[in-house]
Amino acid sequence: MESGQKRLPRLFFPFLFFFFVINPKPSLSFSPTDHYLLNCGSHANTILDNREFIADTSIPRPIIKLSTSPKISVQDPTNRQSPLYSTARVFTSPSRYEFQIKRSGTHLLRLHFSPFNSAKFNLFDAQFRVSANGFTLLSNLDLATNSSNSVDLKEFLIWVDGGGALVVLFSPSRGSFGYANAIEVISAPDDLIGDTARFVGSDGIGDFKLVARQALESVYRINVGGALVTPFNDSLWRTWIPDDGLLKLESAAKRVSFSGRIKYRLGGASREVGPDNVYNSARVFNDSNVLSPNFNVTWVLPVKSGCRYLVRMHFCDIASKALNLLYFNVYINGYLAYENVDLSELTDRLLASPFYADFVVDAGTSAVLDVSIGGSSLSSPERINGILNGLEVWKLNSTIFSLSETVSVDSVVQDQHSGKIGFFIPAVAIMILLVAASLFMRGRFKLKDSLAWSSEGGSKHENRLLVR
Ligand SMILES: *[C@@H]1O[C@H](CO)[C@@H](O)[C@H](O)[C@H]1NC(C)=O
Ligand SMILES: *[C@@H]1O[C@H](CO)[C@@H](O)[C@H](O)[C@H]1NC(C)=O
Ligand SMILES: *[C@@H]1O[C@H](CO)[C@@H](O)[C@H](O)[C@H]1NC(C)=O
Ligand SMILES: *[C@@H]1O[C@H](CO)[C@@H](O)[C@H](O)[C@H]1NC(C)=O
Ligand SMILES: *[C@@H]1O[C@H](CO)[C@@H](O)[C@H](O)[C@H]1NC(C)=O
Repeated sequence: MESGQKRLPRLFFPFLFFFFVINPKPSLSFSPTDHYLLNCGSHANTILDNREFIADTSIPRPIIKLSTSPKISVQDPTNRQSPLYSTARVFTSPSRYEFQIKRSGTHLLRLHFSPFNSAKFNLFDAQFRVSANGFTLLSNLDLATNSSNSVDLKEFLIWVDGGGALVVLFSPSRGSFGYANAIEVISAPDDLIGDTARFVGSDGIGDFKLVARQALESVYRINVGGALVTPFNDSLWRTWIPDDGLLKLESAAKRVSFSGRIKYRLGGASREVGPDNVYNSARVFNDSNVLSPNFNVTWVLPVKSGCRYLVRMHFCDIASKALNLLYFNVYINGYLAYENVDLSELTDRLLASPFYADFVVDAGTSAVLDVSIGGSSLSSPERINGILNGLEVWKLNSTIFSLSETVSVDSVVQDQHSGKIGFFIPAVAIMILLVAASLFMRGRFKLKDSLAWSSEGGSKHENRLLVR
């Protein structure tokens, strides 16, 4: 590593030249094709973390359409710290923002909620649902905005075909209203959500396909062993929180950090998948505790029981002195999810090069996800170790196309009618319900069957990585 860094200056100038010739606009940061930042209910654009949010009173039709009547903007009478949150748009009838999408693929949809009491509307009293392209995303009951100045930023990942639209529908409850302070729509880099993940359950490991076609809600984004990463320091403007308080046994692990260069590789995790600040810190086993081969370090993440989750583990061997010294196993909810992880091989024999692995799991009745790294049979007592740099969790849409448990099935179906999403999706939802009901009546309904995913292949695919 040392010698690599000393060699750098000589290589650097030809490289720079190459870079500018090939890439006239050097993109140190990611520049998405579809990129809409809206400051709702405002007449002025405003800047937050170097990003300009456009006033939604002057949005550029027909690229974005806002259908609401009447058009109501509200302003916080008190002086708030961020101008982005001092205005909101209020919806007293079903209302839509329609964003034209150029690029096919996963899109990030971020909804900002920060209620206040304006003269006409007390946003704390709002009762509403939000859906997008047929998926129910949330209701006001899902928001943790109980005090002034609290902001709840909800992030969703939704597939949209190029040439289509992302339609965000706000549906107020009868006699009430909905609101939003800001909305972001961003086309994600192609490698953000892969096609396949490992489904981990009581039947072993199987393939979970078409991950990107699910609607996902971001639940956890954790910089293991590191500090808070703010949108300012993340090329996709994300927040990564430290993992303090999430370990089952804090003393089982110790922090490591790295000041060298993180070696992003083509085909490995890119900087948009995880920024340097996530990969340059980690936790490893606390050696003084490694007594039994059963030793493990566990993160305990509270989730909603009965829901399905996508768990992404970020690894980057910033701890080893040499290659092939680090072998460990990964467990999720006690199930072996990945045996004998060998980062040296997974990163084309480079240290400090990032790699991630995606798993799909069902949260049981215990309403937690236990994510563990533990010793493997390839570990030897003198080199037994494990590492984790980052951890992300997304919730998957349910079979009734919902990410919100606070919304009843009736209202989901209604929602989709009013959203002009078409008849197909509600019809399918009703059919699924009817079939489920009839199976249930006949006593044939087995929860396990509906949860088990095709496990053809199973462990045969161990080496064909389901991750990129
Ligand atoms: C708001 O909710 C958070 C957690 O959701 C809680 O910690 C806090 O005490 C609540 N604040 C008020 C004013 O109720
Ligand atoms: C961004 O990262 C740098 C380097 O780690 C750090 O010094 C700085 O405080 C961070 N800035 C913000 C706003 O998080
Ligand atoms: C590692 O384990 C030892 C022995 O249990 C403990 O004293 C120490 O505090 C642990 N280290 C960390 C960083 O928790
Ligand atoms: C993790 O360690 C605990 C305590 O040694 C043990 O009971 C548990 O079975 C281990 N879990 C796994 C998945 O190995
Ligand atoms: C989520 O919705 C998709 C339709 O886009 C459906 O195929 C999938 O089965 C749903 N996911 C789950 C976990 O039910």
